Amino acid sequence: MKVSGLGIDIVETSRIKKAASKAFLRRVYSSNELSLCLKSANKYERLAARFAAKEAVIKALSNKTIPLKDIEIVNELTGRPTVKIKGKKTGLLISISHCEKYACAVCLAV
Ligand SMILES: CC(C)(COP(=O)(O)OP(=O)(O)OC[C@H]1O[C@@H](n2cnc3c(N)ncnc32)[C@H](O)[C@@H]1OP(=O)(O)O)[C@@H](O)C(=O)NCCC(=O)NCCS
Repeated sequence: MKVSGLGIDIVETSRIKKAASKAFLRRVYSSNELSLCLKSANKYERLAARFAAKEAVIKALSNKTIPLKDIEIVNELTGRPTVKIKGKKTGLLISISHCEKYACAVCLAV
């Protein structure tokens, strides 16, 4: 297995809470991501985690041209997160962690 890229990002949950206008949410997140996060008690943590994950993907791919909304974090039934780009499965590996103040993600491109 050859590693072709690695990306990491950390986001303050409060920053996403402040930014979370309807326009921002629609610009950054897929409808699946929004329906998952907005029904959660810790919705801003989960939104922040997905923002961090999208930025980590951009770093792993060294590609700043992909719109954040085209990068989608999809959880498997086990809860394990995976990455789709423009609705297509990718081989990107992603790991996410979040708490009240911060969310972070690491992405490995293989
Ligand atoms: C899955 C687990 C590792 C998540 O860890 P956590 O400290 O609760 O929470 P974190 O914020 O670090 O991570 C949450 C993220 O982990 C990811 N995750 C969930 N299940 C996962 C799995 N099976 N594999 C990989 N990642 C997973 C998700 O992306 C989740 O965020 P999201 O739901 O918003 O997408 C944890 O809940 C778990 O099951 N631990 C096993 C041991 C245990 O049960 N301990 C509790 C009793 S002592």
